[in-house]
Amino acid sequence: MKVIASHNGMKAVELAWDRLLAGADAVEACVSGVTLVEDDPDELTVGYGGLPNEDGVVELDAAVMNGRTRQGAGVAGLQRVRHPARVAQRLMEQTTRVLLVGEGALAFARANGFPEEELLTDRARRMWLYWKRTRSQHDDWLPPPRDEDLEVQTWFDRHFYRNPESTATGTVHCAARDRQDDFGCVTSTSGHAFKLPGRVGDSPILGAGLYADNEAGTCGSIGHGEANLQHLSSFAVVERLRCGDTLEQAAMTVLKRVVDHCPEHLRDARGRPKFNLQLFIMSASEEHLGAAIWPGKQIAVGDAGGHRLEPCISYFDAEGEQ
Ligand code: GLY
Repeated sequence: MKVIASHNGMKAVELAWDRLLAGADAVEACVSGVTLVEDDPDELTVGYGGLPNEDGVVELDAAVMNGRTRQGAGVAGLQRVRHPARVAQRLMEQTTRVLLVGEGALAFARANGFPEEELLTDRARRMWLYWKRTRSQHDDWLPPPRDEDLEVQTWFDRHFYRNPESTATGTVHCAARDRQDDFGCVTSTSGHAFKLPGRVGDSPILGAGLYADNEAGTCGSIGHGEANLQHLSSFAVVERLRCGDTLEQAAMTVLKRVVDHCPEHLRDARGRPKFNLQLFIMSASEEHLGAAIWPGKQIAVGDAGGHRLEPCISYFDAEGEQ
């Protein structure tokens, strides 16, 4: 048995591991774990407290996949329900459908008794307002004075305006292998911060945000959703494992493809992607690996040896070289 997750999924790993020990299947264990991250108001990229779209509305995406049945399901653009991963699990287990969006996803959640609430926290609202007031000098909004809401200003200065792509695209992914040696995984996100209303990223799309196949392994992704959608990275990694690649070979081949085909508007002055994409992989022999385009990232791991964060390998080194 083993659980892996993105760096922000440490508490998901801990709960998922306990659930596996108690006999839960891999999907149930991962969804239980990710629910904790969706509940966390300080996690700005997932669930309750996630940063909203450009209209100030929180829209959530999530998917689950079962590696034994190869069945999965996703919900996208879900408003007012803080647990999209649980809704996606319900969709997979109770219907013949694979993807529900917007009003349809909300109606399905409502029918299943999920509570509705305002997902925009006061902190996320202040961040959204700060973004509106500072993004352009050619609109109706004046920038706030330097001494107003310093917490928000500092966050934007340190994180968002320094590297908008990497900050705006967090997400949580969690994958597990259970007592029956079945894989299951889940990915959940509030999507790109201040996105166009209705924008859907990679997280709820099978093959992009996640993929699981008992014969080959599992892979999930966080980071720039559009780059991932163009390459279906999770599916591509699992297919390469099936064909005999090591985890590192599979990850680096797929990340190279993403880097090589990066759109012009997302390249820095040296032609490299301005965004990150991270892959979290477990093979059928239960080896695991975290890999990213840019260095400094971590993977959360839970197994009989305990819970820990381990470094990810990266396509570029700290000097920005391959
Ligand atoms: N990877 C999350 C998103 O782009 O929506």
